[in-house]
Amino acid sequence: MNSAERLVEIFGSQADVARAFQLDRSVVNNWVKTGYVPARWAMEVEQLTGGRILAVEVLNDAAARKPVRVKSRPDDFAGAVFGSDAMSKFAPTKRIQSFHPPQRTLMGPGPTEIHPRVLTTMSQPAIGYLDPIFVEMMEELKSLLRYAYQTKNPLTFPVSGPGSVGMEYCFVNMVAPGDKVVVCRNGVFGGRMIENVERAGGVAVVVEDAWGEPVTPQKLEDALKANRDAKVVAFVHAETSTGVQSDAKTLVEIAHRYNALTIVDAVTSLGGTPVLVDEWGIDAIYSASQKCLSCTPGLSPVSFSEQVVERVKARKDKIHSWFMDMNLLLGYWGATTRTYHHTAPTNSLFALHEALLLIREEGLENAWARATRHHMALKAGLEAMGMKFLVNEKYQLPQMNAVLCPEGVNEAEVRKRLLNEFNLEIGAGLGPLAGKIWRFGLMGYSCRPENVMVCLSALGSVLVDMGLPIHIGDAESAAHGAYAQMHVKDAQRKKKAA
Ligand SMILES: Cc1ncc(COP(=O)(O)O)c(C=O)c1O
Repeated sequence: MNSAERLVEIFGSQADVARAFQLDRSVVNNWVKTGYVPARWAMEVEQLTGGRILAVEVLNDAAARKPVRVKSRPDDFAGAVFGSDAMSKFAPTKRIQSFHPPQRTLMGPGPTEIHPRVLTTMSQPAIGYLDPIFVEMMEELKSLLRYAYQTKNPLTFPVSGPGSVGMEYCFVNMVAPGDKVVVCRNGVFGGRMIENVERAGGVAVVVEDAWGEPVTPQKLEDALKANRDAKVVAFVHAETSTGVQSDAKTLVEIAHRYNALTIVDAVTSLGGTPVLVDEWGIDAIYSASQKCLSCTPGLSPVSFSEQVVERVKARKDKIHSWFMDMNLLLGYWGATTRTYHHTAPTNSLFALHEALLLIREEGLENAWARATRHHMALKAGLEAMGMKFLVNEKYQLPQMNAVLCPEGVNEAEVRKRLLNEFNLEIGAGLGPLAGKIWRFGLMGYSCRPENVMVCLSALGSVLVDMGLPIHIGDAESAAHGAYAQMHVKDAQRKKKAA
């Protein structure tokens, strides 16, 4: 085996070699094709393989093939490129090129693939965040968000930052030191809410449910009976770590009976499953741009009722975060005057505007139905391969499918092979579910029939290759069957309605 082939064997794939050497994949591919690694890489090879391939072996290999020494990489590369000033010692010695990410099929827990229209919009020229045209766009963006959340709340806008910032924004404004907050935890993100309560100086009363189970309404009611001074109830509507959906309407209704305001995490639910802020009476809600909204990560749409705004305005103490102080941000995202607060991520906001417009054009109900449709097909395929869902069917989220990994299979190796051989990303388990489940996302633009079929074929192929008793084609056939049944039902429904 020559040194190029040995490198691929050690690192796992040509892509992994390219990553380790910070090179374009085409360069590594060329090494494998020509059967040697050029002599000038000898030292790096020895270093990066921890001595498993010695520099001298690379040199001998290369010499045997008598390569022409092309001076594409001078010995003092860093000096040549970055100059010989004192700063150059901070520059990496490897060649840096423009970054071109591979085209992946994203079927993990987020981020999702981004619609081409959103990508195009994002690459429009930058404008100032107080430019009247931008301000106009912001107003449209807010009304599109109100549509997505089904609310008339005037204070509905995207916080600059990922979903975690939206979460923190709610807690930092609504929880004053000493406030009691009931937090329902049935997965990773309920745990993060507890952290937020404590960091805001509040006292968390935790309602526990098993991972994979929804929040039990009776447990919340018991906690509120025992803690009548609780000011806030917080829960995750769609727990991404397990794929379970809780009954937000009922939980909010219970919280209100005990005079508590609600904070709802809709990071994974918004756009994938009904989130009816006004109808359910939700007080504060946050989401994230990179899940079912299929936009670039880094924005967190939030919405607050008038009651929340009044409570925050009435706080006597200074809110513990300058950036997230709702009172200060009102001047920027509020309806009337615009004053400088922070530099808005303009191009990301253009993108969110387009992503929400796509949902508006499709119609929320159609977007929810699309998630359910492809979930049914994916589920049929996964079950045909013998896989079991973590969550009881009644509470399964269509956009986040968690299945138990088959016994004896190296789950991390499966994910690695899906990524390297099929350019397909799926998610792993978190916390106590690490190594036990896979998570298949069907969110936003990633929720398409071709993704369902690619996923089932790729997974079947890898599992068969790893020795699992699976019949190639069974999963695809079950998924096609599920689609066909849904078509028939749709046709019957249309006929009846006509
Ligand atoms: C339910 C839930 N809440 C909060 C977050 C945090 O969002 P972000 O990663 O955008 O900060 C996530 C992220 O996956 C999530 O799934």
